[in-house]
Amino acid sequence: MLLIICVSLLAASTLGQLDRASMDAQWDQWKITHSKIYSEPKEEQVRKAIWEKNMKMIIHHNKEAAQGMHSYEMAMNMLGDMTPEEVINTMTGLRVPQIHQRNSTTALNYSEANLPKSIDYRKKGMVTSVKNQGSCGSCWAFSSAGALEGQLAKKTGKLVDLSPQNLVDCVKENYGCGGGYMTTAFNYVKENGGIDSEKAYPYVGTDNPCRYNVSGRAAQCKGFSEVPVGDEKALAVAVYKVGPISVGIDAMQSSFFFYQKGVYFDPNCNKEDINHAVLAVGYGVTPKGKKYWIIKNSWGKSWGKNGYILMERNRGNLCGIANLASYPIM
Ligand SMILES: *[C@@H]1O[C@H](CO)[C@@H](O)[C@H](O)[C@H]1NC(C)=O
Ligand SMILES: *[C@@H]1O[C@H](CO)[C@@H](O)[C@H](O)[C@H]1NC(C)=O
Ligand SMILES: *[C@@H]1O[C@H](CO)[C@@H](O)[C@H](O)[C@H]1NC(C)=O
Repeated sequence: MLLIICVSLLAASTLGQLDRASMDAQWDQWKITHSKIYSEPKEEQVRKAIWEKNMKMIIHHNKEAAQGMHSYEMAMNMLGDMTPEEVINTMTGLRVPQIHQRNSTTALNYSEANLPKSIDYRKKGMVTSVKNQGSCGSCWAFSSAGALEGQLAKKTGKLVDLSPQNLVDCVKENYGCGGGYMTTAFNYVKENGGIDSEKAYPYVGTDNPCRYNVSGRAAQCKGFSEVPVGDEKALAVAVYKVGPISVGIDAMQSSFFFYQKGVYFDPNCNKEDINHAVLAVGYGVTPKGKKYWIIKNSWGKSWGKNGYILMERNRGNLCGIANLASYPIM
């Protein structure tokens, strides 16, 4: 009896040490993977503490997911040593103007019953590669460029990377890396008479003077339309009839930062507090019948599911996905 207790105590303490050692080893590996260098040991201490907190949250979530309590899994990624406030301040950037010209569309009068069960514009050559906005609140520019790329491909059959930097530098009503809104960007492209290609006007991720040059122009647009606010069915119709649609979401949850795969749902996601712009490139339904949106983010390919997230669809306008949806008219 005594022996058994000793063995199990020993096992427990070894496990504790192993946990510590394994955490330390994973931290060292994570720093290498993401090229993290901290100038001060104190800074590293603080960062490591944040990272460990996130790591424990992820492990805990995945255990629950394995028991069927969640429909998605999380994974550690490059955001691991950042607080939620830091992620929000540097990696999002949707700013809805207080007064903005609205243009709600009626062109989407279509029965939902006639919609296909799923659609994925990545398979139709209407979606460019996943980009990384870096430490610049330019999500709105990537979302806008993505919607324009989709319409350009639909119209011409050619998939061309358009320039978010063009929008960051030149859309006067927006705030560059300080944030902005998509319909303002579409309006700029209309008034400006075009947007340059990424090749002609490459992304740098900082605010710079406008360098638009018509010789690099790759697309134009005639205006924009907005999907009726909060209507996920209208959004599905828009995705089907139009193509990739710019959408705003609440991306302030840690569950979003560390999403890896599965269908995302977090009851804490707040549809009244939208801070991030992304691109809806399709929708679908799992074999178990869970409906989702296919969302392209601009946090690089190593975030989420190769840069994408599947967000639950028809689940009460999750994260406000149908509240600020718009698309350019080409
Ligand atoms: C939608 O279309 C149907 C039939 O095509 C028509 O009867 C109805 O009035 C339309 N609704 C709106 C809001 O345009
Ligand atoms: C625009 O691009 C053309 C061709 O590359 C170049 O000749 C011209 O100088 C550029 N204009 C400006 C204002 O930079
Ligand atoms: C508003 O949308 C309609 C079509 O839905 C389009 O013809 C018009 O150009 C748009 N207006 C603006 C200002 O974008």
